Amino acid sequence: MVQHLKHAYIAGTGYYVPKKVLTNKDLEKIVDTSDEWITTRTGIKERRIAAREETTSVIGAKAAKQALKAAGIKADELDLIITATITPDMPFPATSALIQNIIGACKAGVVDIEAACSGYIYAISMANQFIRTGEYKNILIVASEILSRITDWEDRNTCVLFGDAAGAAVIRESQSKSEIIAAYLGGDGAYKDLLYLPGGGSLNPVSKATIDKRLHYIKMKGNETFKVAVTQMSLSAEKVLEKAGMTKKDVSLLVPHQANLRIIQAVQKRLELPDDKVYINVNRYGNTSAATIAVAIAEAVQEGKVKKGDIILFVAFGGGFTWASALIRW
Ligand code: UT7
Repeated sequence: MVQHLKHAYIAGTGYYVPKKVLTNKDLEKIVDTSDEWITTRTGIKERRIAAREETTSVIGAKAAKQALKAAGIKADELDLIITATITPDMPFPATSALIQNIIGACKAGVVDIEAACSGYIYAISMANQFIRTGEYKNILIVASEILSRITDWEDRNTCVLFGDAAGAAVIRESQSKSEIIAAYLGGDGAYKDLLYLPGGGSLNPVSKATIDKRLHYIKMKGNETFKVAVTQMSLSAEKVLEKAGMTKKDVSLLVPHQANLRIIQAVQKRLELPDDKVYINVNRYGNTSAATIAVAIAEAVQEGKVKKGDIILFVAFGGGFTWASALIRW
């Protein structure tokens, strides 16, 4: 049975970041913070903020069009669209349906997944299964976030961290050695109260009281989250390497979730990787949740930092908590 499974690969990537740049200096005028604090604690220097007319589907569709072009296929050849986001345009319909409508992917199924910052890797893993079994041939995954609209601009603990961005990838059946080698998905809901958005769902439906209590914004216990992030991102990296029968020496490029430079450096140290084998853009975009890895890999490809045959390691961590990793042969 197993020998009949097909292989899937990332056939094209794309990304979009809004034009407006918000620097640490700008934030000094909004909350009691400093460029020095943000830089030393997070590595972030600036982030992008979407224009009012930009929504998660609008920026996701821009990234998607680029990914389709890079993959050399048309939107109407897509079998399925999976969008990873915690900031959908609205609770329903799925942001994937809105993206489908914009790009004209008339034959595609549409579904969103909610795995916070790990969402892009969860989407890759799910797309991989559909292609491997032969069910589908062309899948678009989009990771798109407009976190600026769920950020509490009065809370200095969180508002300095987040930004807006979208990344996309086309996953297709592979005819060469390029493939998604393995993925590992994990999580632990016992940590649900360390990083969450409490308002607007069935637990706390929108009311004047939920708004007055600012429950419609991200809440995070940063320090506790930091510790679990370092541990679980490192373990996730090791687990997927083990699953693939590979070691850290095989990794050509680590593309980690970009939440905090210190978290990335801790994972890098555990994997004993030199600086030139780790892709970092947290300084320019901050934490864009599901979009971080999707944007980073698309940028790395455009900058010529990824060659055919390279072994790329994705590893992410986010609210839930969720964590995930994937190994790709480019
Ligand atoms: O993407 C999903 C997962 N997210 C993450 O992985 C994020 C994980 N957490 C982090 O990145 C870090 O914990 C933070 C960057 C959020 C915070 O860094 P920290 O080193 O853990 O700082 P802390 O929370 O322990 O706070 C230290 C101090 C506090 O002051 P006191 O109580 O020591 O007087 C904070 O009030 O820093 C203060 N502080 C600030 N000061 C200036 C918190 N935010 C700011 C700020 N500017 N923006």
